[in-house]
Amino acid sequence: MTKRTTLTSIDVGTTKVCTTIAELNSDGGVRVTGVGISPSHGLHKGLVVNINDARETIRASVKKAEQACNYKVESAFVGVTGRHINSLNNRGVVSITRNDRLVRPDDLRRVLSSAQSVKVPNDRKLLHVIPRGYAVDGQVGVKNPVGMYGFRLDVETHVITAAATSIQNLVKCIRSLAIDVDDLVLEPLASSEAVLTEDEKQVGVILADIGGGTTDICVFKDGSIWHSAILPVAGYQLTRDIAIGLGLPFDVAEEMKKRYGSVMPVYEGQTDTANPISQDGHGASYQDLCDIIRARVEEILRLILLEMPRNEYESIVPAGLVLTGGSSNLSGIEALGREILRLPVRVGTPTNMHGIADTLCDPAYATSVGLLLWGAKHKAGRRWKGGWFGSRLRKLSFRIGKLFR
Ligand SMILES: Nc1ncnc2c1ncn2[C@@H]1O[C@H](COP(=O)(O)OP(=O)(O)OP(=O)(O)O)[C@@H](O)[C@H]1O
Ligand SMILES: [Mg+2]
Repeated sequence: MTKRTTLTSIDVGTTKVCTTIAELNSDGGVRVTGVGISPSHGLHKGLVVNINDARETIRASVKKAEQACNYKVESAFVGVTGRHINSLNNRGVVSITRNDRLVRPDDLRRVLSSAQSVKVPNDRKLLHVIPRGYAVDGQVGVKNPVGMYGFRLDVETHVITAAATSIQNLVKCIRSLAIDVDDLVLEPLASSEAVLTEDEKQVGVILADIGGGTTDICVFKDGSIWHSAILPVAGYQLTRDIAIGLGLPFDVAEEMKKRYGSVMPVYEGQTDTANPISQDGHGASYQDLCDIIRARVEEILRLILLEMPRNEYESIVPAGLVLTGGSSNLSGIEALGREILRLPVRVGTPTNMHGIADTLCDPAYATSVGLLLWGAKHKAGRRWKGGWFGSRLRKLSFRIGKLFR
């Protein structure tokens, strides 16, 4: 009989909070059983700016997902983004002192913990330490050194840190709903699980998740992460440009962007004026709308490119750019990307999910699906500080509080 584990992911985005509940089979298959989506309040550029509003948004999203599958969420994998994220590449080294000089799993743990010993200031938290590659006695490019002979083991790691207060605010919102945090995952890392192929990661690829408040970037090379960055510009700025440029209310501009927006407009045969789409009868020229969108998207694409070394990026990422996130739904964005980067560009949509996953087949849900896949991969992983006793205590105090309310 196949053993099933239930996994939950919460993507706390600037525009929407998405909770997904899935069953993980012992054969590694993930089947989505519940999805809950709520429009975000209390979040700005990926950060919690109003704890009460953010908590209520998360509560509503979790409740919808719970109702869909009649399951009570107790813990979840949670996405993290925001300008406060920093990353650097670090090294660790240990010597193999045993007589047989055989590298064992214990040596792997030692070398990884030596690579973790980067000086993290008090106001920052270590989010991920991801091994990029090992070297045994100077022989580089080793993916798994266990079982090899050597005197010296080196590791190269990608270290990602976040502002402690931003993390605390997010974790506080989740825990105040009596939900434990299984792990905090950098959002583009999660998205990459959902939309990148192993081949692309091996050859070299940029992933850019253009969401509502942030554009989250991860670069992969030789099968592992090479660089990560968060840009504080995305779909929200696009809508604001349209609202200001065309003198429209924000929600009308948002609607126009989604319905008519294109970065590669075809003007011939188009009516010059987009149909009024609001009840108040606001209208705008199709050309103006598309020109405004194109200027901002061009800027975002150039900012993505600036994350790469200027002259050698074509050799580092021959697989090009994979765009995802809600804003990658903009018509013509792939063609514009190809024009600017002179590399292959495609839009990545999460697929290969079973269960009630139709809603998730949109680039906006790459992070949610990716968090589930990340959870499935690391399900034996750590609980974000607090442990079993802390979590029971919190649940108990939550229930007592609820009783009195
Ligand atoms: N068809 C579309 N055309 C253009 N933009 C779109 C379309 N659909 C969604 N968007 C934009 O995508 C953005 C939301 O994307 P997404 O859901 O990925 O963001 P988020 O995860 O909530 O935010 P973030 O990851 O930045 O915190 C919004 O700005 C929305 O306007
Ligand atoms: Mg997002």
